Amino acid sequence: MEMSRRLAVKLAGAAVVAMRPGAVALPAPAHRPHAGDQARHKAEELVRRMTLDEKITQLHGTGPQFPGSGYNGSIPGNSRLGIPALYLADGPNGVGNGATGVTQWPSAKALAAAWDPGLARRYGAAYGAEQAGKGHNVALAPCVNILRVPNWGRSAEAFTEDPHLNSRLAEAVVEGIQSQYVIATVKHFAANNQETDRMSVDVVVSRRALHEIYFPAFRAAVQQGGAAAVMTAYNKIDGSYASENAYAVGQVLRGEWGFDGMVVFDWGGTHSTVAAAKAGSDVEMPGGTYFGTALKNAVRNGEVAESVVDGMVADVLTAMFRAGLFDHRLPDPRSALRTVVSSREHLALARSISVQGSVLLKNQGVLPFSGAVRSVAVIGEAAHRIPQPTYGSATVNRTGTAITPLAGIEARAGTVKVVSSHDLLGRTTDAAAVAAKADRAVVFVGDTAGEGTDRSTLALPAGQNELIEAVAAANPNTVVVLNTSGAVLMPWLDKVRGVIANWYAGQEQGAAIAALLFGDAEPGGRLPETFPATDRQGPAGSGDRYPGDGVSVRYDEGLAVGYRWYHRSGQKPLFPFGFGLSYTRFTLGDLGVRTGADGGAQVRVTVRNTGSRTGSEVVQLYLEHPDAAGEPSPVLKTFAKATLAPGGSRTVELSVPRDAFAVWSGERQGWTVLPGRYGIHVGRSSADLPLSAEFPVL
Ligand code: GLC
Repeated sequence: MEMSRRLAVKLAGAAVVAMRPGAVALPAPAHRPHAGDQARHKAEELVRRMTLDEKITQLHGTGPQFPGSGYNGSIPGNSRLGIPALYLADGPNGVGNGATGVTQWPSAKALAAAWDPGLARRYGAAYGAEQAGKGHNVALAPCVNILRVPNWGRSAEAFTEDPHLNSRLAEAVVEGIQSQYVIATVKHFAANNQETDRMSVDVVVSRRALHEIYFPAFRAAVQQGGAAAVMTAYNKIDGSYASENAYAVGQVLRGEWGFDGMVVFDWGGTHSTVAAAKAGSDVEMPGGTYFGTALKNAVRNGEVAESVVDGMVADVLTAMFRAGLFDHRLPDPRSALRTVVSSREHLALARSISVQGSVLLKNQGVLPFSGAVRSVAVIGEAAHRIPQPTYGSATVNRTGTAITPLAGIEARAGTVKVVSSHDLLGRTTDAAAVAAKADRAVVFVGDTAGEGTDRSTLALPAGQNELIEAVAAANPNTVVVLNTSGAVLMPWLDKVRGVIANWYAGQEQGAAIAALLFGDAEPGGRLPETFPATDRQGPAGSGDRYPGDGVSVRYDEGLAVGYRWYHRSGQKPLFPFGFGLSYTRFTLGDLGVRTGADGGAQVRVTVRNTGSRTGSEVVQLYLEHPDAAGEPSPVLKTFAKATLAPGGSRTVELSVPRDAFAVWSGERQGWTVLPGRYGIHVGRSSADLPLSAEFPVL
């Protein structure tokens, strides 16, 4: 009797992480919401009652959905056994696939820039409630791929370049979504970091970089967040498609991490029947080319043991039991097509995310507008629209009247005179003339990025740099608002007095940016990605490192991704990871470090608001390993956001558990904590760490 696939893989996986001197056990799976141990047991009981045809039906989609359906994949229910139908819907920035009556949220990047897992959890719950209200019980989100190249076309759907921040946000959003009895599908596993050749490119990457950079957020989503589903990526990893990768899916996801939920292929990302079934993947979408009749035939002719199919179906049903789908039936999506699931509360949350996630990059006395400001010029085509990904599964229809930047500023201005230039891109005389007459000029600029294509440059498109230069020449008190997917180049930076990274800010953008400009709120964000100074900066500077030769792309920078690269290479970026200013000022002091009960570090630091306005500071802790560990830089291990009134102070407690000191050892094929002298560095960005202490590990 063939040992069940799940058990065989689990035993193999377990051998890899057996404790050794200095080795570190992986964190035990946290309690999963709505779960308990019954999920797998109930699933396997149900499988025993299913016919082979019913099992096969559970393992593939019904084909492409009609446009505007609000979802992009479905599996019919089984009325004989009481199994609910599955409706799988995009995306990370809101209910997509043409759905109406939904909130167009700020992008995942804006959410990441807030550095606030509690806010991320609230977003997940609100977004999950909207998916549920539309009858979708599987959300194809969050996207937790690491930002390896800043010009990745899907940068706006992703969070960050750093594995720790990525992990905290991933688990929070997953918990939020699944609190609404909707399956969260963390995607795209793994190393999907570019659109160029995405369907086939072979990512050549070390196992250490996979485990320390590209895997962590998936592991956190699964083990801490309790994600009930994982979507595999299109690309290959070290020679075999991610969707049938025995190492990534079989040994790591299933074996080491103990994931027993649903693994769904990206749409059209299935490439085989037998190899994919045996690797540990479960569900083909949107149709059943490989996991429909072909899989049934493979069982009939003995190529795939029926026990393997039983395990696959049990994965799907376990995910459904674990997320509460059997006990919480949703409306039929067809009957919910016109249901409005957005709400005033959700729009208020969208506004708050945009405010908290906006990053003040420069401010030479121009922000917030003081009482002396009597006129404002609003410039730029981007002031008249709401930016979002231009194409692909992350696009979202907004509900009701979107508040554009101009509309938001006009609504907030009161007695302040607002003038605007309806200049068409490329014609700057009108804009300069309008700007010259106002006390402040605010130029809104944006990029166009989306699924399927990487940005060819980080430069602002369509003459926007020239527009900013012309306006700044006409008005020294010029502020630039960046409504972009991510990092952009700023050749005009020295000529303007204020810059705010406002990202793709969602349909409440105008109200949020107006609150920030007029000082009703403070930009609370910090950069979740490095902003390079030129297109040539960063780890992917050469062809074989990005975008590759059409066959493979080599991640030869290893661990040196994002700020890690800049630290090791000595390149100076325009703005570093973790950077962000405030409308007030903070000091950090009184660093205290002691050894915690588990041998890790317990750290305390006092934050003081020494300015005249309430504001937020994000205290960041970076761990420096001994040289022998081979880490390219101090790495973010924890952070805390403190909001303080003027004159207020707070002692922040930061803990670095012993497991977090571990590095992934190629020779041990597992985690290990090296003895030696570590550095604890605390500050307000990866490049501003004024407080340090040595921490020995024996
Ligand atoms: C895609 C995307 C994936 C999305 C899926 C369904 O091509 O890569 O993120 O969830 O199709 O629309």
